[in-house]
Amino acid sequence: MVTALKERTTMDITAQKIGESQPATILTVKNLQIFYGEKRAVNGISMGIGKNNVTALIGPSGCGKSTFLRSINRMNDLIPGAYAKGEIIYEGLNILAHDINVVALRKEIGMVFQKPNPFPKSIYENITHALKFSGVKKKSTLDEIVEESLRKAALWDEVKDRLHKSALSLSGGQQQRLCIARTIAMKPAVILLDEPSSALDPISNAKVEDLIIDLKKDYSIIIVTHNMQQASRISDKTAFFLNGDLIEYDNTERIFTNPSVKQTEEYISGRFG
Ligand SMILES: Nc1ncnc2c1ncn2[C@@H]1O[C@H](COP(=O)(O)OP(=O)(O)OP(=O)(O)O)[C@@H](O)[C@H]1O
Ligand SMILES: [Mg+2]
Repeated sequence: MVTALKERTTMDITAQKIGESQPATILTVKNLQIFYGEKRAVNGISMGIGKNNVTALIGPSGCGKSTFLRSINRMNDLIPGAYAKGEIIYEGLNILAHDINVVALRKEIGMVFQKPNPFPKSIYENITHALKFSGVKKKSTLDEIVEESLRKAALWDEVKDRLHKSALSLSGGQQQRLCIARTIAMKPAVILLDEPSSALDPISNAKVEDLIIDLKKDYSIIIVTHNMQQASRISDKTAFFLNGDLIEYDNTERIFTNPSVKQTEEYISGRFG
């Protein structure tokens, strides 16, 4: 599926299969450092991200959560002076390598941002825009994908009679679910969510949380959140960051009931951050 990311020889693929020891890991981060010019924002972190898991990234403002998240689909490439060292291995390839096809990568690793950012186009076109760009032209196929993605994003019933109305006429919560539908339509393997419900009212937030739990059947999800209840409700694993370091990474239940590191305990109990 990922062959478009980079030309590979059969030998590489065989070597990769032999070396594969943890089939349940979709991404392996090795000594990842991320810099903005001289300043280092992520200090050499290593972790495995579970397949069909929800992984929560928590920690105080400025600790590097968004920087790390954006590196996973190379969004930091868009920031002048930003660069990364180390490796993020996906399907046997280091996605930080220069010769990775970033457009293909972003199809496999999709991202939803904090503020809903639909295009100023119809609901239908928001979903079909990137699909058409990637070569899907047949109307019946596009119709099918629109319905399927909106259903998966728990938005279909609310918008099925107004698909050709502007996406900007939707509420904030609906816009965010549309952005999730738009990401799902590309059939990614991994979905990155950067505080996706922080701008939403409690009911929309609950819908997005239910949706995330439902989506992990088909996708691997990494979510940044400042909301400890949210992390404990929806995630399988939680990673606690502080000043660019990965302080503790464990099963969510463990992190929230019996963390190993004092700083984690202090953060989750609200003593700083
Ligand atoms: N575009 C940028 N240029 C320069 N420095 C940046 C840039 N974006 C982030 N940083 C710096 O990198 C560090 C980590 O920022 P980042 O946005 O990753 O933190 P965060 O954990 O997501 O914080 P928050 O919870 O507030 O969103 C901070 O010191 C920040 O000032
Ligand atoms: Mg952030």
